[in-house]
Amino acid sequence: MYYQETLRPQIHFTPKENWINDPNGLVYYEGEYHLFYQRNPNGNKHADMHWGHAVSTDLYHWKELGTALEPDQLGTIFSGSAVVDKHNTSGLFKEETGGLVAIFTHDNHGEQQQSIAYSEDKGRTWVKYEGNPVIPNTTIKDFRDPKVAWHADSKQWVMVLACGDHIQFFGSPNLIDWTHLSSFGKEYPSDGGVWECPDLIHLPVEGTDQKEWVLIVSINPGGPNGGSAVYYFTGSFDGKEFHPNEAATDPLKWADEGRDFYAAVTWDNTDDTYWIGWMNNWDYANDVPVSPWRSAMSLVRKISLQPDGGNYLLKQEPVIVSEPVQVRSESSLTIKPGEKAAYDVTLPGTIDIQLSQPAKQWGFQLVSDQGEVFKLEINQTNNSYTFYRTEGQQDFSDKFASEITGSLNGLDIQKITAIFDHCSFELFANDGVVVSTNLMYPSGAITAVELYTEEAEVEVEQLSMNELPTIWK
Ligand code: FRU
Repeated sequence: MYYQETLRPQIHFTPKENWINDPNGLVYYEGEYHLFYQRNPNGNKHADMHWGHAVSTDLYHWKELGTALEPDQLGTIFSGSAVVDKHNTSGLFKEETGGLVAIFTHDNHGEQQQSIAYSEDKGRTWVKYEGNPVIPNTTIKDFRDPKVAWHADSKQWVMVLACGDHIQFFGSPNLIDWTHLSSFGKEYPSDGGVWECPDLIHLPVEGTDQKEWVLIVSINPGGPNGGSAVYYFTGSFDGKEFHPNEAATDPLKWADEGRDFYAAVTWDNTDDTYWIGWMNNWDYANDVPVSPWRSAMSLVRKISLQPDGGNYLLKQEPVIVSEPVQVRSESSLTIKPGEKAAYDVTLPGTIDIQLSQPAKQWGFQLVSDQGEVFKLEINQTNNSYTFYRTEGQQDFSDKFASEITGSLNGLDIQKITAIFDHCSFELFANDGVVVSTNLMYPSGAITAVELYTEEAEVEVEQLSMNELPTIWK
């Protein structure tokens, strides 16, 4: 498979054709990482949801396999998760070796219930449980996106479910019979946004042997730059209830303040924790100017926590498994106000910048052969960054052109990694504690990167630029 269309991502997962949205059913099993996803096999708009399927052995190169779950008399197949039922707790498997169980939402014109299916052949074919739904509809309108994991301390499967303006937790011994455990989050204003695609994970704290619970929630609309975005709470989970960290002045933090990182959830059954998001935003997803596919996933990121006063910051490190071709490496570079350090660039690729010390107001811009500029500015004085997505193709939606701002989380920024693909920009500052994912649609090829500074000289200790080979060969 070799994709050559203009704007086709070369290091991000896309389907050969048609619409996709949320990652679903992320699970590692017998040597393969599974990526299921929301898919419309017949068109390039959100409709008629199925689960598509891709597999990887390294979380970077993907093989698309086709449809895994199809709509039935209970409805279309919305988002959900998958687990390895190692000990056949469900009794659904012939062998005592168990297999894969998918837990998903059946959507029947807005009526939503939770169902399961099982697979005995590594996710290639699925049988829906004959007693579906396993959690029937209640009076709640938005009642979806079950994420399930085994909770060792309470010896049960725990499900996190998005319910409009709050989360509900359910417990089960067998993935079939579910009991309501608790509800969380009604006290947090959602400003008209709907909570979606939650996840509950136990993450290691860097530099310690401690782990903390993190509740992930996607919200749409209500993102910091408009539309869809992902936030998280750190806290505790006792097998019944989640309590946000009391030491934190604000227990709610954005995982990625860019415009295009949504519905992110983690892989089940891995040692380290990895997640992936849908690289788009419901504000304009149905209209982005790409075809015959529509939408890509973000890069996979390994996640952990970094202590931050009484609270923690989510740290995200992109997984890139390929032999990069180094096109530039420079040390001890001085950039002066009014001057630009310009370098040729070929996408996809990365730029790594290490400063000798934090600088006030500086950054770099990508320039296309049509003269379009996409600029990143770090403003240390204001504790913020801005990505200017105000050029390139944007007339497909009046919500697309934006100056996207985010917080530097009070950190002195000294190190930046940015990853460019043909229509995306992912920023990871200070090893991934400030992250911003954004689509961009240049109308020509990006050919240059220009470093600049506004007020004072900037000392770049090390600059390196790499080209990345396509993942599709
Ligand atoms: C999130 C979402 C989910 C839902 C799915 C439908 O992007 O709205 O809540 O299950 O997409 O495709």
